[in-house]
Amino acid sequence: YGTQKVNEKGHLVIGGTDAVDLAHVYGTPLVVYDTALFRKRAAGFQETFKKMGIQAQVAYASKAFSSIAIYELAAQEGLSLDVVSGGELFTAAKADFPRERIHFHGNNKSYMELNYAFDEKIGCIVVDNFLELSMVKEIAATRRQQMKVLLRVTPGVEAHTHEFITTGQEDSKFGFDLKNGQADKAFGLAYDAPYLQLLGLHCHIGSQIFETDAFTHAAEALMEKMQVWKESYSFVCTVLNLGGGFGIRYTEEDHPLEPAQYVAEMAEVVLELSKSWNYPLPEIWIEPGRSLVGDAGTTLYTAGSEKEVPGVRTYIAVDGGMSDNIRPALYNANYTAAVANRMTAPHDTTVTIAGKCCESGDKLIVDAKLANVTEGDILAVFCTGAYTYSMAGNYNRFPRPAVIFAEEGQHQLVIRRETYEDITRLDLSLQQKVRKES
Ligand code: LLP
Repeated sequence: YGTQKVNEKGHLVIGGTDAVDLAHVYGTPLVVYDTALFRKRAAGFQETFKKMGIQAQVAYASKAFSSIAIYELAAQEGLSLDVVSGGELFTAAKADFPRERIHFHGNNKSYMELNYAFDEKIGCIVVDNFLELSMVKEIAATRRQQMKVLLRVTPGVEAHTHEFITTGQEDSKFGFDLKNGQADKAFGLAYDAPYLQLLGLHCHIGSQIFETDAFTHAAEALMEKMQVWKESYSFVCTVLNLGGGFGIRYTEEDHPLEPAQYVAEMAEVVLELSKSWNYPLPEIWIEPGRSLVGDAGTTLYTAGSEKEVPGVRTYIAVDGGMSDNIRPALYNANYTAAVANRMTAPHDTTVTIAGKCCESGDKLIVDAKLANVTEGDILAVFCTGAYTYSMAGNYNRFPRPAVIFAEEGQHQLVIRRETYEDITRLDLSLQQKVRKES
């Protein structure tokens, strides 16, 4: 099947381990990360910058999958970290992630979250709006504590992806508008703030983007603004953060470039413009999420009930669904799947893989091509490493799956499966049983 590895038993192999064995050892649904692939992707980005002679930080956008173990792995690989909440920052602190390499994002960071970032002495706050800018200034001044900041701007670039996941167009809730004076005003406010060290600009134009032009136009737009500020105020940005959003291949219809190729194209624009404008080459930071973890993850399910709608379709239900992967229901996202215990059997039967949530829309793959599935088969849905576990919920009070890392035949549990006790741990009983007066 496709590019997947298969062993002599005809079983899917992930990270050198037999996926069917993993399903039996850890149970299903199970998310398996091939950590070698994560390392390879990380190195791909880092080497691209090295080859081009550009100082860079590659920050893992951890909203794609946040856990202590993935933060430890990211730290091992020399990545920086993008966190978007107090919760992600707390997780990073638990993983003892190097604080100076943590960047804090979000369009409505609370006073408490910002203070927490100062407590942790993180590397940089990416300031999104005027309220946040005034809070960061005040906190820094009150504490007499330095903080590095980037200003997040919206470059007005339209990228063709799902409307819910584009962020760089003008009508966006994120960032200071680059064209209508907001960014200039924010610059003025941040520039002379005593305890703030303004490093430069940030943008992120959206996610799962395939068009190189969208990225290069954004890079150009930011460079132009930087050049204006250099000429008008002699201010030189030392950092240019170009965000993430590099598209990956979910199905055969997707034809992205190698993730690092998008980065190379953007970096080329920065190199050229800085040369022709005599602008000191800034450090380039990027924030890939999906392209680091997406194809490294596979979800294993056990096939259960089957329903045929004669002449229409056959549903095969699995023991998970939109509770562990909401992307098909939310974005019409497409995936491919295979029967992990019969990989070499022809995958030419069309079935719809349904979840077990009480929702008609809970379908993981419509018209999947599979080998004949019988109850108890292990189904593998590929490319589920990004925005699946991190967006998982307890709808219908289904426990969230376990997550494991596999590499070179070794495997380890990194998030244990939720139990019914976990699910009810926040519930409180009525203080007084309400009784009807007799
Ligand atoms: N930087 C910023 C500021 C972001 O907002 C995001 C993603 C990233 C980096 C990472 O983007 P990536 O490289 O992963 O595309 N839940 C949606 C995706 C939402 C993306 C949100 N921001 C999905 O499942 O497709």
